[in-house]
Amino acid sequence: MALKNRETFGSRMGMLLAMAGSAIGLGNIWRFPYMMGKNGGAAFILIYVIMLVFLCLPVMVSEYLIGRRGGSNPFSSFDRLAPGSKWRWIGFLAVLASACILSFYCVVGGWSVKYLADSCILAFSDAQGDYALSFGSFISNPWKPLLYTLIFLGLTGAIIVFGVRKGIERMSKVMITMLFIIIVMVVIRSLTLPGAMEGVKYMFVPDFSKVTADTCIAAMGQAFFSLSIGCGTILTYASYVKKEENILASSAWISFFDTTFAIIAGLAIIPAVYAIAYMNGVEPDVSAGPGLVFITLPGVFSQMPLGNVAAILFFLALLLAAVTSAISLMEVVVAFIIEEMHRSRKKAVLMCFAVCGVVGAFCSLSFGPLAGFKLFGLSVFDFFDYITSNIMLPIGGMLLAVFAGWRLRRANFLDELTNSGKLRIPRWISLTLYYLVKLVAPIGILLIFLNTFFS
Ligand code: PHE
Repeated sequence: MALKNRETFGSRMGMLLAMAGSAIGLGNIWRFPYMMGKNGGAAFILIYVIMLVFLCLPVMVSEYLIGRRGGSNPFSSFDRLAPGSKWRWIGFLAVLASACILSFYCVVGGWSVKYLADSCILAFSDAQGDYALSFGSFISNPWKPLLYTLIFLGLTGAIIVFGVRKGIERMSKVMITMLFIIIVMVVIRSLTLPGAMEGVKYMFVPDFSKVTADTCIAAMGQAFFSLSIGCGTILTYASYVKKEENILASSAWISFFDTTFAIIAGLAIIPAVYAIAYMNGVEPDVSAGPGLVFITLPGVFSQMPLGNVAAILFFLALLLAAVTSAISLMEVVVAFIIEEMHRSRKKAVLMCFAVCGVVGAFCSLSFGPLAGFKLFGLSVFDFFDYITSNIMLPIGGMLLAVFAGWRLRRANFLDELTNSGKLRIPRWISLTLYYLVKLVAPIGILLIFLNTFFS
């Protein structure tokens, strides 16, 4: 059903790495460890995995299926599968959600550019490692973080301009491979520090006393955000996928990859924080929130042997992870502009850069000059972060599952899942999945919502 002359991914490996690249991002390295820190360590991982299997995997399969069958951007994929219906506006909302996420994502992406640059400067000069202390003054500066935000966004655009195969696929392959090698090096450094095992224990021994009703919505929001589902990125990438691919296997792989990576990133960070805290005779604090990576960690690096190298590697990893996710977000918007507004890829990238650059500027300034400006009691940055992860993505995900489970007929769902019977998927598996999509995921997401808003 794909449009004529539409690009496709060149290979299965390329497709999987591009999707894994979308999933693996700041969500894994920057967000997951501090969420875990706040919500009871392993107890959070447990709840997270339950959400993943029962809610997120079905949503990912739905999104993948709609994208591949629809063969277009979210707006017209829905339109082609349910011609003339209102569903296409759900597709439009997905495009909007992607633009909103990209707008605050590029701010944190910008911080990682800055921290990578700073750790290089530190390693090659005699300056002492005190840049960590200046995080507050950096992000509240009126123009510096803005500049880095635009650099990050520009970098993302520069990759997208080259298209699906030469831009997205090629860069994802290189970057994700590098990312894995680097993060393993940082984990080895972290785990070999004296006292690191306490941190490992913290990660894997659950503390259920910290689990509250909010933990569930936090875990759900985190799972949706981390897997890049609910806002059309998987849908858009899936529209570049060939008919022979196995939807269920690909989705399971990506989820597995992403979760494993989040735990590996936790192992790079938490044991090191524990080790250095014990060395200094203070209590380790891994619940420091968003500052964990940008405040606590640089302090940790500055005190450990080979810390300069570890810092460069770590912030390079953070940047690589952020870029591969940002390109998937931008591609949703760019594909929409190309196909619905009939602009060239270059123009589409420029338009997306301009819009997200402006909204991103507001997000960035909300740490400085615009700190007093609140939307529903939240700063602009927190507002975008909160409404996208905790509201737009789960609702988007729920609607995607409802569409796949109720609007596409069961025969079509199973036909797509088995590639018209060519794949031998045991019937009980495809039927279980079908009911997860049709009933469990939408109802589960709804219940978690109601629970949060009424408690
Ligand atoms: N999954 C990405 C991350 O973990 C963020 C993202 C969310 C990307 C939604 C695309 C869509 O950082």
